[in-house]
Amino acid sequence: MRFFNTAGPVRCEKHYCLPPLQRFDLEEILLLIEQQKYFVLHAPRQTGKTTCLLALMEYLNNEDKYKALYVNVEAAQGAREDVYGAIKAIMYEISYQWRMAFKDEYLLHHYQNILKDTGEYAAFQALLSFLSEYSEKPIVLMLDEIDSLIGDTLISVLRQIRSGYILRPANFPQSIILCGIRDVRDYRIHSSKEKAIITGGSGFNIKAKSLHLEDFNKREIEILYNQHTEETGQKFEQGVIDYVWELTEGQPWLVNALGYVACFEIKQSRDRTKTITRKLIAEAKERIILERQTHIDQLADKLKEERVKKVIESILKSEVVRAIKEDELQYVIDLGLIKRTREGIRVSNKIYMEIIGKTPL
Ligand SMILES: Nc1ncnc2c1ncn2[C@@H]1O[C@H](COP(=O)(O)OP(=O)(O)OP(=O)(O)O)[C@@H](O)[C@H]1O
Ligand SMILES: [Mg+2]
Repeated sequence: MRFFNTAGPVRCEKHYCLPPLQRFDLEEILLLIEQQKYFVLHAPRQTGKTTCLLALMEYLNNEDKYKALYVNVEAAQGAREDVYGAIKAIMYEISYQWRMAFKDEYLLHHYQNILKDTGEYAAFQALLSFLSEYSEKPIVLMLDEIDSLIGDTLISVLRQIRSGYILRPANFPQSIILCGIRDVRDYRIHSSKEKAIITGGSGFNIKAKSLHLEDFNKREIEILYNQHTEETGQKFEQGVIDYVWELTEGQPWLVNALGYVACFEIKQSRDRTKTITRKLIAEAKERIILERQTHIDQLADKLKEERVKKVIESILKSEVVRAIKEDELQYVIDLGLIKRTREGIRVSNKIYMEIIGKTPL
């Protein structure tokens, strides 16, 4: 039986889901890939980025025009600014994912020699060239969690992609999608080696486009919640969808978490003849805030950052937001904590507002 997923990527056969490929403009993405473009997909935490990338990989591999490979570069995060260690971890991850996706150990047998021969400042590029030449179809590479990399490691990864770019598609991936929270353009990367700040825009000036993954709209919340009613027969009281919208404004994880707690965790509502009321959703909200699951915890953690604190404080005090620097504002918007609306800038939803209220700034 399916349920609301609150832990990691959604799989439609196991979880209630909105078809991931309908959450972005698939036609546009296919066009960008066909035109051999490199681009960015970004959105705040737990919006559905990984779910979408995995669905895109499956779609492309079924089409059989490209070999699509999803790689999470988070494995390199532990190496921090040790460029050698980080590049090695990423190269291993690419080789391993290639084996997982295509049952082919070729890269796993070669990546260490490539690293030995070319060194960490060229090995990532060399591996992608090696793979592109080897593969009988052009490669589409998705690098997820790109902003988990920092400093010289991130600079090196971006530069190696930039330098291989002109070799595509025969000797470098046809298309690379960088996925993370922020647009690469907005990165300000501190290089210890060069003792300078490198901006993402200059380090990665080959980017053709930045796509943003949006939160759910009210209709999408309804579609998701209806799946529960269809599968279990359990009904939602009139007004529940409006209430979930009011509390979450469509933030995907929050929408799922309210549904999960209200329909699966609160004991009395496991009786599927009982209607899920607004009151139960309100109780679910209290639990979510109290329990501090990862999503809430990550947000509360961000509130400790000085630059985030400053922006939130001035929004709460309704200070003129013009006093805040645009890049500071954009950073907090990218985190998903605040948003621009027609009426101005405000905290993204009521649940975040409550969390902020309960977190000493
Ligand atoms: N297609 C979808 N249908 C319904 N819910 C979804 C969908 N995609 C994502 N979600 C919700 O968002 C949560 C996070 O999904 P996913 O891990 O794909 O997002 P992410 O943006 O990659 O997150 P992270 O920032 O943690 O890497 C899921 O656990 C689920 O609650
Ligand atoms: Mg993810």
